[in-house]
Amino acid sequence: MNLTILTYDILDSTNTEALTQARAGADEGLCIVARQQTAGRGRYGRTWVSERDAGLYFSILLRPEMETQELPLLTLMAGVAVHETLEEFGLNPDIKWVNDVLVNEKKIAGILAETAETSDGVAVVVGIGINLKTTNFPPDLIATATCLEDTSADPVSRDDLIEVLTRHLDDSYSALLGENGRLKILERWMIRSSYRSGKIVRVQLGNETITGATDGLEGNGALRIKRRDGTVAVIQAGEVERVRAAI
Ligand code: BTN
Repeated sequence: MNLTILTYDILDSTNTEALTQARAGADEGLCIVARQQTAGRGRYGRTWVSERDAGLYFSILLRPEMETQELPLLTLMAGVAVHETLEEFGLNPDIKWVNDVLVNEKKIAGILAETAETSDGVAVVVGIGINLKTTNFPPDLIATATCLEDTSADPVSRDDLIEVLTRHLDDSYSALLGENGRLKILERWMIRSSYRSGKIVRVQLGNETITGATDGLEGNGALRIKRRDGTVAVIQAGEVERVRAAI
């Protein structure tokens, strides 16, 4: 993939900018970076706190030739790339399904994939936020978030992070699109996530709360949860919460 990196001082959201450029015909491999976001988006309509130079705010435009039902694999692919990136900087990360990257059980990075119909077909923008500092985080986030400044032995610059991240994204994306790509990405994800099996979790699905032990992934990346009665729930989307007490 040919990568083009455009760096902005300030944007509302790097995902919004990448989606706009996708609709205007930009090529796959366009990467948008901003030093600050005024309307950074997280999953489930949440805000992604994006103070100036406190994080990497990055989006990549992809135009994958994949079936719609396989698009969730792009999120797993990006989770693998972020995990590998942080490992390269000496950290010991984990991935909580589907794509929260954790260090010491606290969130250090999040991924938000969004799609747009364009005249060149479906475009997918994968937005990645990696915390560099949490100094100005609101108190409620401090309890659950961490950052490179607090976890890495050596200082990590945004430019080093971009260089390593784009290399791993390129590699994971090529693997996904190559022979047996789906399986390769599922395997890479599973060896990097303690959530792959045996973790006691809870997921709220509408009115239903599903509690049980994680039991691997389906072929499209959906999470299997085995309830105590032995039945298995397949979770396509939702927020997984670790349950620490015995169920
Ligand atoms: C999450 O809720 O975990 C996903 C967070 C994704 C944040 C990144 S920062 C760069 C890109 N631009 C956005 O507005 N969001 C994503």
